[in-house]
Amino acid sequence: MKYQRIKGTADILPSETGKWLYLEEIIRNVMARFNYKEIRVPVFETTELFARGIGEGTDIVNKEMYTFTDMGGRSITLRPEATASVVRCFIEESLGKKAPLTKVYYIGPMFRQEKPQKGRQRQFYQFGAEALGSADPRIDAENIAVSVQVLRDCGINQFEVALNSVATPPLRAKHRERLLEFVRPIASQLPEVDREKIDRNPLRLFDSKLELTQQLLQGAPLLEQFYDDDVRRDFDIVKETLTRLGIPYAVDPRLVRGLDYYTRTAFEIRSSLLGAQDALSGGGRYDLLVEELGGDPTPAVGFAAGMERTLLAMEAVGQSDYGEKSLDVFVIAESEPERKQALLLTKQLRDGGKTVDLDYLGRSQKAQMKEAARQNARFVLFVFTDDIPGEMFQFKNLSTGEQQKLSIDEILRPIA
Ligand code: HAM
Repeated sequence: MKYQRIKGTADILPSETGKWLYLEEIIRNVMARFNYKEIRVPVFETTELFARGIGEGTDIVNKEMYTFTDMGGRSITLRPEATASVVRCFIEESLGKKAPLTKVYYIGPMFRQEKPQKGRQRQFYQFGAEALGSADPRIDAENIAVSVQVLRDCGINQFEVALNSVATPPLRAKHRERLLEFVRPIASQLPEVDREKIDRNPLRLFDSKLELTQQLLQGAPLLEQFYDDDVRRDFDIVKETLTRLGIPYAVDPRLVRGLDYYTRTAFEIRSSLLGAQDALSGGGRYDLLVEELGGDPTPAVGFAAGMERTLLAMEAVGQSDYGEKSLDVFVIAESEPERKQALLLTKQLRDGGKTVDLDYLGRSQKAQMKEAARQNARFVLFVFTDDIPGEMFQFKNLSTGEQQKLSIDEILRPIA
């Protein structure tokens, strides 16, 4: 084969788009119920935006971005996530001045040069929701509730909400100091991949999948030991609100996110329905990002979820009915005058709102019948030369086998 898709990308085939549309409809419906409005931001931005936004020390910025120089000599990056872009737009369009609270959602492709595996691609789709303008921890819970509601509406109930508070930068700095005191003496025993985290971001050691690292971290100081009253109170309100909203969660004091912008609430929704890549969604509060990117100080919270993973989880629970509509009518005609007539009838039916198709491959009546069945058409309409427009036509219900003579008006009625 001369041309192949690039590793880590996927074609979403016509036979698969039905389930994507189904998921997108659920997402849009949930977002409307929670009053988040859609925002569409570009798929590429200046590299600087992501480097500053996501953080210079993160894997995303260090290793995973698709970055190129455009004709103007600018460094451009395909978005690895959309929060930085939403914040850039929020500032550039002064959205904070237009409304006290901005609640937006997005659906679209993201790009990360990660090692592809099941549930992990280099171009993948996310949907996400961001609320900018409120510091109320109850909106953190609402934001988590949005993510949970989409899963529930998809029929996915097997998931856990892992919750943490990553506090504030000054508290993290205190913790980091103590953590380094703990880790430095055991640095030489740490596996090499984790050893390099010590200088970059020692908190990410907690994120390690390696057993040895986790063992060595036993007894390490946890961030929660450094919470102040304010952080603790906000975290308590998030937990209490989740309980009130009927959302079970588990506090995971070792939860660290792969992006630097989080403050206070951080969460991940994981599912045992998935393989190694078990995170369905993740997010949290990012109170300093708007300011960091040049805007007025604006507290904010958000999440994003992986759509391929959501679809994998839906399949794992046996979802197979994506409400796909098959053809209403397949119009069958054989001779030249019949085919002309069929075209006209097809137009009338389509104008009347039906989904209709006909043969363009010069096939026999029998082959056309087969095609109608293959396409799961509900009805076939036989056109014969002696039929006169506006009069009666042979009409067969493919599920009951019942055959009747009906006028176009009548055809438009019974299958409405
Ligand atoms: P994230 O945790 O990097 O957060 O990504 C969110 C979700 O996107 C993951 O839980 C996963 O389901 C999916 N995902 C990430 N990488 C891949 C990949 N390579 N292939 C397939 N799916 C993937 C963010 O992106 C933040 N912007 C979330 C956020 C919004 N925080 C605040 N607002």
